[in-house]
Amino acid sequence: MNVGIIGTGYVGLVTGAVLSDIGHVVTCLDINEEKINRLKKGQSPIYEPGLDEILARNTATNRLYFTTNAQEAFAQADIIFIAVGTPQGKDGAADLSYIEQAAKDIAINVDHNVIVVVKSTVPVGTNDKVEEIILENMPPGLQVHVVSNPEFLREGHAINDTFYGDRIVIGAENSIARDKVESLFKSLNIPIVHTNRRSAEMIKYASNAFLAVKISYINQISNLCEAIGADVNAVADGVGMDHRIGRAFLNAGIGYGGSCFPKDTEALAYLARKNDVNLSIVQSAIQANGEQRHIFVQKVISYFKGELVGKKIAILGLAFKPNTDDMREAPAITIIEELLKKGAHIKAYDPIVKDVTSLNNKIKYANTKEQCVENVDAILIVTEWEEFVEADWKKIKMISKDAQVFDGRNILTNK
Ligand code: UDX
Repeated sequence: MNVGIIGTGYVGLVTGAVLSDIGHVVTCLDINEEKINRLKKGQSPIYEPGLDEILARNTATNRLYFTTNAQEAFAQADIIFIAVGTPQGKDGAADLSYIEQAAKDIAINVDHNVIVVVKSTVPVGTNDKVEEIILENMPPGLQVHVVSNPEFLREGHAINDTFYGDRIVIGAENSIARDKVESLFKSLNIPIVHTNRRSAEMIKYASNAFLAVKISYINQISNLCEAIGADVNAVADGVGMDHRIGRAFLNAGIGYGGSCFPKDTEALAYLARKNDVNLSIVQSAIQANGEQRHIFVQKVISYFKGELVGKKIAILGLAFKPNTDDMREAPAITIIEELLKKGAHIKAYDPIVKDVTSLNNKIKYANTKEQCVENVDAILIVTEWEEFVEADWKKIKMISKDAQVFDGRNILTNK
């Protein structure tokens, strides 16, 4: 099939790459010329394991194209995906301006009947709105069907998650459009959930919020474990063996960050408030997540008895999680800023993130973890990169002349 994709962010780019890899002809559209030019040269704007190879393979075989021209992107398209951002807007509500713009761009630039698939995470009812906008603005006589198909890919595992996901959710009001979208994914062999559009939109939010609740729950249990002398990793293992609960997302630490959980939990909480429904569980998870990084900083402050002025602190890991260079809502930023406020000197090392704009001129960066921990008073593990998990911690402690280690990701329990 011929597919157009609006938005070459994480979701759009990975979706486009995978769809071309399974045989479709895909044209990715973005307003950012610099990004499109880089992609045309085969350079990925994001760090994602496996993505470069797939991009190269499919551009070489003429199955994957990039453009800033909407007419070109839609000219042959049977299906157009909307994969633009839905950032957090006022009061926690999702900002839908990019979605609305994409709907208008489709309406103005298509000259044939199309199916539009909304992949972006959008509040319940947005697919209806997208269909309305397109119908209002497209030439008379043309037909459009909008289908909801939320994504569930994790950064760092995005390619794998797209090829081997747990499910593909297709929310449609029209059975022909539904079948056509389903046939796109036929060769992936992933179970399909058919539902209406509103339920599909809700599945995405309910899934992400559930995972956020799970993390905040284990984080609070971990605080209690620490107070009473239990080991949260052992507790998570024991609890997670119950198949009704599962071990995944029970890793306690400094809380979740990234481009999805923080904004999606806020958007769901907003939706509940707007509809006068009590969703205090999600609200509490958001609050607990905010507290968790302060609790971590507080431990450092208490260790130095409140005297952090001039103390040298090594930060191991900046990205919000391993295998990504994404710094959006990364706990590292809040933690570093709080320590700087207290007068500490910060040296940071991350295997991939080499500098953070908002922190430049305020902190130093090291080229290796060994360099980072030289002559410091404390070491904070902020991201659980494999390099830190596998490190020779006896050597690290030695280089640092026995600095106190604060393990924000519980990776050293068994070391
Ligand atoms: C998430 C969802 O997993 C994905 O399905 C959705 O489509 C987008 O949002 P992502 O944000 O890429 O993906 O990362 P994920 O691996 O889910 O981790 C999210 C955050 O939770 C990270 O900050 C991570 O450190 C934290 N986390 C995860 C924990 O603190 N403990 C855990 O046990 C798991």
